[in-house]
Amino acid sequence: MKIAVAGTGYVGLVTGVCLASKGYRVTCVDVDEEKVKIMQEGVSPIYEPGLSELMMESMENLTFTTDYAEAYKDAEVIFVGVGTPEKSDGSANLTYVYQVAKQIAQSADRDCVVVIKSTVPIGTNDKLESYIHDKQKNKDIKIYIASNPEFLAQGTAVRDTLHASRIVIGTEEEYPKQVLLKVYEKFEAPKLTVGRRSAEMVKYASNDFLALKISYVNEIANLCETVGADVEEVTKGMGLDPRIGNRFLNAGIGYGGSCFPKDTKALSWLARFNDKEIRTVRAAIEVNESQKFKLVKKAKKYYDDFLFLNIAILGCTFKPGTDDLREAPSLVNVPLLLEDGAHLRIWDPVGMENFRKRIGEKNICYCNTIEEALEDADLCLIFTEWDEVKKLDVRKYKELMKRPIVLDGRNCYPLERFENTGITYGSVGRRTVNDIN
Ligand code: UDX
Repeated sequence: MKIAVAGTGYVGLVTGVCLASKGYRVTCVDVDEEKVKIMQEGVSPIYEPGLSELMMESMENLTFTTDYAEAYKDAEVIFVGVGTPEKSDGSANLTYVYQVAKQIAQSADRDCVVVIKSTVPIGTNDKLESYIHDKQKNKDIKIYIASNPEFLAQGTAVRDTLHASRIVIGTEEEYPKQVLLKVYEKFEAPKLTVGRRSAEMVKYASNDFLALKISYVNEIANLCETVGADVEEVTKGMGLDPRIGNRFLNAGIGYGGSCFPKDTKALSWLARFNDKEIRTVRAAIEVNESQKFKLVKKAKKYYDDFLFLNIAILGCTFKPGTDDLREAPSLVNVPLLLEDGAHLRIWDPVGMENFRKRIGEKNICYCNTIEEALEDADLCLIFTEWDEVKKLDVRKYKELMKRPIVLDGRNCYPLERFENTGITYGSVGRRTVNDIN
């Protein structure tokens, strides 16, 4: 079976490589010539554990090209995994999806199934179908459109694709259903065929539910701080109930990334557009926006202002295991601290270069080690729970910092580690150890 994949971001490239690893001949298409050149050498342009290795192993089945016409001409299945970024009103920007749809309509020269993996508002597949049929150059062929949302998380994208929790196929027609069941034959996962609009909704409803779970636990954490409970103990107790489950109950400084922030806003926009209100999701968004500033608010207890303070920042990516900064709490907090006159010492094992490109160098020292970042710091803020941070001997905070105040936005350490250390350790939803009154 000949497969083409449009877009080589986290979704497209991982999909293409995983399909190639199962023996399919896959042509990955991207508009970015530089990126395509890199991939032709067998190098992954994105940091994703396991991806480079699998890509190297599967190169004989992989082709990378900017020549979409050649790729789509005789493909039996075309996966679309291009971005649907957020527009200023919160709705999804479908420009890239439509660009690909137009190219497919102009190039396809045999019956094929166009599989939309990009996260798109409910009803988009229907619109794309009309659009493609309108623009279709070869009127003798049949182009089917099916929805097949992805549920991969960055950092575990390969595993999530090869061992998916479920494969959702959205179509009302038999042919695309059979083609997709065939494509996924070698993937062991529950396969569910539903209507196209339902498939589109499964994606938003799943992501928004997880975002809601996080915002809920963050509010519980904030309340725990006020009433003297410990959020870790509370979530342990909650998580033992199988109806609740113990995952996605980690309190912190809010969710970031390429999906939750965008997909919550997009669903909220879609509801409003249809004269409906999705109040739970709106609440999740509001809670998340204020949660991102929690550490800086906490820091105000120790410093009236941040002028000329040396502040160590540990982690800038939106979560560990990725170099992605999208919607990371660091991106809104660092400019705020700089505006207040702070001098920052930033450490991140993989995200620093991207961060430097976004935020620049002024009043920032980018450090190669955690130790270097902590040197002479008046305050340390932890934004990402990298393993290196979790494994750090906490006595280093005392040894290296000018004033050992550590505010941890990801609850990296058990509180006991800080008892009798002389280090002030504040986290989310738990008591502050060695607090200064
Ligand atoms: C998410 C979904 O998990 C995935 O199924 C979907 O396809 C895309 O969006 P991703 O954004 O890569 O994946 O990361 P995820 O691990 O879900 O984390 C998202 C954000 O939530 C991160 O900022 C993370 O720090 C935060 N988070 C996650 C919490 O704050 N607490 C938790 O308990 C879990």
